[in-house]
Amino acid sequence: MGIFSKKPISQLILHSDDGESGLKRTLGAGNLIALGIGAIIGAGLFVRTAAAAANNAGPSVTLGFVVAAVGCAFAGLCYAEFASMIPIAGSAYTYSYATMGELMAWIIGWDLVLEYAVGAATVGIAWSEYLNKLLERFHMHIPGRWCHSPFEVFTEAGITQHGIMNVPALFIIFMITLLLIKGIKESAVVNGIIVISKVAIVILFIVFGWHFINPANQTPYIPDPSIYTDSQGVAHNFGGIWGILGAAGTVFFAFIGFDAVSTAAQEAKKPERDMPIGILGSLVICTILYILFAYVLTGIASVNDFRTQGREASVAYAITTYMTGYGWLADFVIVAILFGFSSVILVMLMGQSRVFYSMSKDGLVPKTFSNLHPKFKTPYHSNWIFLIFVGGFAAFVPGDIVGDMTSIGTLFAFVLVCIGVWILRVKSPEIPRKFRVPFVPVVSILGVVVCGAMMAGLGWTNWARLLGWMVIGLIVYFSYSRKNSKLK
Ligand code: ALA
Repeated sequence: MGIFSKKPISQLILHSDDGESGLKRTLGAGNLIALGIGAIIGAGLFVRTAAAAANNAGPSVTLGFVVAAVGCAFAGLCYAEFASMIPIAGSAYTYSYATMGELMAWIIGWDLVLEYAVGAATVGIAWSEYLNKLLERFHMHIPGRWCHSPFEVFTEAGITQHGIMNVPALFIIFMITLLLIKGIKESAVVNGIIVISKVAIVILFIVFGWHFINPANQTPYIPDPSIYTDSQGVAHNFGGIWGILGAAGTVFFAFIGFDAVSTAAQEAKKPERDMPIGILGSLVICTILYILFAYVLTGIASVNDFRTQGREASVAYAITTYMTGYGWLADFVIVAILFGFSSVILVMLMGQSRVFYSMSKDGLVPKTFSNLHPKFKTPYHSNWIFLIFVGGFAAFVPGDIVGDMTSIGTLFAFVLVCIGVWILRVKSPEIPRKFRVPFVPVVSILGVVVCGAMMAGLGWTNWARLLGWMVIGLIVYFSYSRKNSKLK
């Protein structure tokens, strides 16, 4: 047994049914779509859209959404096939353990930390922006130094300065961790209410905002290629095809989460039917809403707005600045966003603890990650450990950096999943698949190409961060995980 040893699928499925995990099967297809939308609509739409318009693509950020949606659709199909054949907790990690061997599984599991944990930090930082907006509505505010990272520059009272620590971001991560430790059932009910209000504000913004679109803001629709250096001193490819790909990589963040549905497979009542519905259903609904939303947002406010005063809490800024008479909408949007972001953080942190739960059961990370709370049956040790990790990122790293790290890490996982489905079709065609991706390997290859193009659009600094994280992961694997693997 070595780095290529695979976990037999029959054994995986057996373990999922033996009650060993203690996780209860309580979620149906409707719950899963709600879980998906709860995880999907969040900071990607309400914060990263404006960042992509400002830094990369201007109004053509909508085309970035199209590219991202296409990439997600290919990868989503592959995820759905995997989820229907290996209906247990662990997401891409579990699937790759059965298909591509232990080392690849480790790489994906480690990479998923970027998606879930660093992603949760990104949403925490976005939450902090909107909290400030809410306080502003009541003529209060948190001093800039206490809601920005030390690596971020902001201007307050005419003085340009660095932050010290993002306290509200840390606070929300802490609160959600407490909720998670209490258990998924209560969280799912709250999530249902939040999903409805999130969809409601997106639709209201599209409908009411449509009349405030200023065609001048969308001319030219695709800006000419140039280099734009943002207020933090970072240079971006702006305009043209690279601008659109960069924007796609950035707003791809807005789609992250549909695969979190697959981490709940072990809690699904009929995973083989409900998983594909949950994954693809939530993806389709969100794609339509996103493109319309981005079109309206970039029509109401200009690129220059998103580079200056509208850089933070952009949606609330656009409404309060340009949509006269819609103060009530701004208030509703801010409150719904604050709750909505909380639900995204919840699902991401839950996904994170579930992946490490599986990895811990397999002996690849220490046993403490699978210790269940005696009463709540949640992996509470894992939750506490990730509070420190995620909280650290939320408090001390700028949102742009953690956001793009999340995107590139997740895209990398998507690429590996697309390849994995193909490998498994060739190597183990006999395994029953309740859902089959049409036209394999064409869909797999297209998934790799589109997701790879978005990764390219994110630029070399993000590649360097991804590589750095992976090198740390390999060191951990060869010094700890390989020796402790249960399969071994
Ligand atoms: N898709 C999630 C969001 O946009 C992660 O916040």
